[in-house]
Amino acid sequence: MDQHVIDEIIERNDIVDVISSYIPLKKTGSNFKARCPFHDEKTASFVVSPKKQIYKCFGCGKGGNVITFVQEFEKISFPEALRKLAARAGITVQQTIGSKSKDSKRDLIYKIYEIATGYFYKNLIEHGNNALEYLIERDIKDETIKKFKLGFALNSYGGLRNYLLKNDINEKILATTGLFTFKNNDLFRERIMFPIHSSSGKVVAFGGRKLYENQSGGKYVNSPTTDIYTKGNELYGLFDTKYTISKKDNALICEGYTDFLRLYESGFTNSVASLGTSLTDSQISILSRFTENIYMLYDGDSSGRKAAVRAAGKILGKGLNVKIIGLPKTDDPDSYIRNNGASSMQEMIDKAKPLAEFLKDDEVIGVDKKGKLSVLFDILNEIEDEIAQELLIQDIAETFGLSEHAVSSKIRKKRRSFKKETEGTEISEIEHFTEERAIILLIINNELLYKKVAQEIDLSYFLTEKYRKIYKIILEHIEDMGNIPALISKIDEEDTRNMLTELSMSDIPTQTIDDAIIALKTRKFHIDLKIINAEILNDPTNMDLFTKKNELKREILKINKKVVRRTLY
Ligand code: CTP
Ligand code: MN
Repeated sequence: MDQHVIDEIIERNDIVDVISSYIPLKKTGSNFKARCPFHDEKTASFVVSPKKQIYKCFGCGKGGNVITFVQEFEKISFPEALRKLAARAGITVQQTIGSKSKDSKRDLIYKIYEIATGYFYKNLIEHGNNALEYLIERDIKDETIKKFKLGFALNSYGGLRNYLLKNDINEKILATTGLFTFKNNDLFRERIMFPIHSSSGKVVAFGGRKLYENQSGGKYVNSPTTDIYTKGNELYGLFDTKYTISKKDNALICEGYTDFLRLYESGFTNSVASLGTSLTDSQISILSRFTENIYMLYDGDSSGRKAAVRAAGKILGKGLNVKIIGLPKTDDPDSYIRNNGASSMQEMIDKAKPLAEFLKDDEVIGVDKKGKLSVLFDILNEIEDEIAQELLIQDIAETFGLSEHAVSSKIRKKRRSFKKETEGTEISEIEHFTEERAIILLIINNELLYKKVAQEIDLSYFLTEKYRKIYKIILEHIEDMGNIPALISKIDEEDTRNMLTELSMSDIPTQTIDDAIIALKTRKFHIDLKIINAEILNDPTNMDLFTKKNELKREILKINKKVVRRTLY
């Protein structure tokens, strides 16, 4: 992707113009304010800076440039947002977004999936007597068939192939579409076809369910990974239900196609299906664009419940909220609704439980209390986010009547290496915070300072993970330091982007850069000295340590005599 074009798109789309076309902005001083469109709030903490061409919400922390705003507001991908903004500014980008040949190949595969979807649908309506009967038997409405473009693959080795060739599709591309076997036969034969749409609404894959019990092959045949589809990256139904999910601010996740369709027809239009029992991290992160509140609605049997528990752990680890619905052990959502009706399903949803409580009360999985706790401790250890971990500790402790101390002692100690380095020193996170923050604020606001700082300060001076991350990005992107909005578009991680915008919007510290460097260095040497002193205590005859200590003292003397008198010993 050509960075010049991205820069131009940012430059030609004034952030105030663009954002005010979505939400009302009010001028306050040199900035603009609004109620944040990304979280629910009564007071306006969403700030747009025309000077810096960035936005930042001081309530929820989201921030970025004009491109990330359009991406987040419209829930579209980076290239889609670029196209939109390019069109808005009258910039032609067709050739420049993505490499040309790759892009047109993907477009062609999308087109093939669209044609195939139409073909399967036509088969179902025109030739799929048994298939249509099957769907009617399963109580799936015409309307649903149409909306989700269900279809039927004939019992034929070359039906789809010939249809595509007739539609002017070049034979050479067929092998890369994932729709054919290595012998060039149709992959899906005599199967009910469920198209899988990407969240933006394009068909990117199929699942094919066998029609007859005794038919050869598995219950489902699924599309392989292709240029347009990565297994485990999509959620079935999301393209249609994302608006409701976002409006209701919660989502139900079920396992299968039929569960989803039954839920949908019964009015639970805030559902998605994970298509199998292992919810992936990328599925969670796609869903988290629309809501942070998730209900696991897997099958009621032991494997469904176990999978729901595992998924819930992953969801918590991402900092989202989750509850689990425990269906009777012989039911899935489809059968439950058919047997008991939609209002009974609603009651089940209302009774959904948090992870620990769900496990405690569960009688289907078949493990004792000790086994349940060990499952929970494993989940706890998988969670990296400290707040999420803390919340789960509280939940487990309360639910099982244990002390939080007892629960947290079950966390296997995973020390990050930089923590080890500073062990035994009493410097708190807060102190790292102010010194590291000051340096970064100074650089961000004056690109001329960057080189000076880079020469003297390397990453090891940063002890706070957050600021180290940002400093690393600064080191890697020297050429962009004068253009923060452009830099923001190069950062994939949302947290880091938010942090960078927060820093760009903060007041510049009053100290000089020299003072800030001295402070950071002094602190680092001070810590190093403590470490060496501790090592000397352990190993008093090691002369190397004394040499190191003297070198360090000399370094410190060089920096600032006043500081030295205070800290050296
Ligand atoms: N699945 C799959 N391959 C299989 C079995 C299951 O890909 N061999 C996926 C499908 O996406 C399926 C989901 O896992 O929808 C749930 O599986 P299952 O409960 O077995 O299927 P249902 O969709 O419930 O199908 P049905 O109600 O027709 O039995
Ligand atoms: Mn099922």
